[in-house]
Amino acid sequence: MLKDQLERAAASVAAHFETVLARFDDLPVVQAMRHATNGGKRLRGFLVLETARLHGIDPAAAIWPATAIEALHAYSLVHDDLPCMDDDDLRRGQPTVHRKWDEATAVLAGDALQSLAFELVTAPQAGSADVRADLARTLAIASGAQGMVLGQALDIAAETAATPLSLEEITALQQGKTGALIAWSALAGPRMAGADTAPLAAYATALGLAFQIADDILDIEGDAATVGKATGKDSDAGKATFVSLLGLDGAKRRADELMDSAIDALSIYGNDADTLRDTARFVVTRTS
Ligand code: IPE
Ligand code: IPE
Ligand code: MG
Ligand code: MG
Ligand code: MG
Repeated sequence: MLKDQLERAAASVAAHFETVLARFDDLPVVQAMRHATNGGKRLRGFLVLETARLHGIDPAAAIWPATAIEALHAYSLVHDDLPCMDDDDLRRGQPTVHRKWDEATAVLAGDALQSLAFELVTAPQAGSADVRADLARTLAIASGAQGMVLGQALDIAAETAATPLSLEEITALQQGKTGALIAWSALAGPRMAGADTAPLAAYATALGLAFQIADDILDIEGDAATVGKATGKDSDAGKATFVSLLGLDGAKRRADELMDSAIDALSIYGNDADTLRDTARFVVTRTS
């Protein structure tokens, strides 16, 4: 079952974080990094491990980029929750880093998690020098001002925009803030194998967009205890989402269409991609 597979992947990523962070001095900033990397669905790490498996990569190598992307994702969440961004107190059912410590610690823990991501993805165990360079370069592109940071900047700008964003603008925003890291995760397998990333690219893009639409729907329909973070905030904050543009039903339809196109894009892999098909279904039906 996918649930068990996700749990196994989450446990390997958690164990790897423990080993890696044990090497650091036990300062507050490191405790904050540990706090920020605890919990979560580990979907991005799972996508790395699963697409690596699909390409015959040893899990002992794939755990490095899998943990790297979860470190980078954790950094993005710590900064996303800051008072100057979304101003959130709860994350993964726990107080956010700036609430448990302070803002300076949250900024620094995020910075250090980003650095850690690049340390992990370039670790000798992750693969050949060429593979590691490719993973690091593409992770930099996915996370920076052409990817996640761009999307976050557009997300914040949209809060005070004079006119609502168009469908194209919201798609670009979400492809950046969420899609880029999810796509990197789903393409890590072929990258590690030195294989063509094109066959999985359509899956990766559709999955990333569907994932953020589901997040936006959970903000309206979810309850904080299950979702592990405050809900009902996006509309008041003036966030531009598929829900704000298409309404709840329209956004659900769009998420289902994206799920179908993600699944369709896997046909060349046959049964070997069944877990990735289940992942696409999970992404739009999840409750947290
Ligand atoms: C939350 O991501 C932030 C978004 C990009 C929507 P996840 O829903 O994957 O969060 P965790 O890692 O499971 O906590
Ligand atoms: C966050 O999107 C995306 C990143 C952290 C890059 P949201 O702001 O919608 O995520 P949540 O709802 O706080 O998890
Ligand atoms: Mg945000
Ligand atoms: Mg947020
Ligand atoms: Mg959200």
